[in-house]
Order: sequence, then C-alpha cells, then structure tokens
Amino acid sequence: MAGNRTFTMIKPDAVSAGNTGAITKMIEEAGFRIVAMKKVKLSAELAGKFYEIHKARPFYGELCAYMSSGAIVPMILEKENAVEDFRKLIGATDPAKAAPGTIRALFAKSIDANAIHGSDSDENAAIEGNFFFSQFERF
Ligand code: RTP
Ligand code: MG
Repeated sequence: MAGNRTFTMIKPDAVSAGNTGAITKMIEEAGFRIVAMKKVKLSAELAGKFYEIHKARPFYGELCAYMSSGAIVPMILEKENAVEDFRKLIGATDPAKAAPGTIRALFAKSIDANAIHGSDSDENAAIEGNFFFSQFERF
C-alpha cells in the first residue's frame, strides 16, 4: 500500500528567485497538506549527509555545493499516494524534459538548479523528513 506522506525541499534557485509562495500555492492546490515547513540553510557537510545516497555519482560534489549555496524550504507533505503524485507534480529531473505545467517546467533553471526535490520512495520520505524535522514540528 502506498504511504500518504512525502518530503520536499524548495531549492536555492527557486527560493532566491522569490518563487517560494508560487510553488507552495501549486503544492496546496494539487491537494497536498503541509505537515511541516521551515526555511534553513545547509552547511556543505550537512548537504553531503543528506545526499549520501548519491555519493558515488559524478554530480555529487556539485550537488552538495549547490544545495548549501543558499536558503532552502523543506516540507513534509500529506496526501493519498503522496510520493508518486508529488513526483508527477514536479516533473522530470531535467527541466528541458519536464512535462508542461509541472513545477520544474515552470520554475527550474537547469538540471542542477531544478527548483525542487521530491522523495523517490516511502522509505526515503520518512528518512528525509526525519533529517529536517523533530516530532514537535509536525502538525
Ligand atoms: P531530487 O532527488 O532532487 O528530487 O531529484 P531527482 O530524484 O529527480 O534526481 P536524482 O537522480 O535523485 O538526483 C538528485 C539531484 O542531483 C542533480 N542531478 N544532476 N548532472 C546530472 O546528471 C544530474 N543528475 C541529477 C539534480 O539536481 C537532481 O535533482
Ligand atoms: Mg532523487
């Protein structure tokens, strides 16, 4: 059975461009309830920890540098079939391949500065949510 929670981060390009509100509006209008939300800036070390799963990939260094370059807005979201439905809402990793109307098609600048993250499984959604939020920050 698919879980009902996912985890997302609005990435530095979208936060610095002033698109936090527009993206959050799209998320809520798509039927997701915001369970937890804050604005933070990761150190390179913490970004490295968050993306440890990608350590062996060629873009790991750039990804960690990028994700610690500015403020991000992490959120836990709730909806039936959350992980899969949210991946549909954000579109493909490369904005040039993202379907029209998706968050990445509308707001992403490049494959690195691609506006938003979405968990790829229920298991990772739980791990990623726990990375950013304590039990007292979920409502
Ligand atoms: P995300 O985790 O951020 O939601 O993105 P994703 O699942 O669509 O893509 P993933 O494979 O998990 O990669 C994580 C992030 O690394 C950057 N990336 N760069 N240069 C490249 O080929 C490349 N591939 C991935 C992207 O910023 C991607 O969101
Ligand atoms: Mg991913």
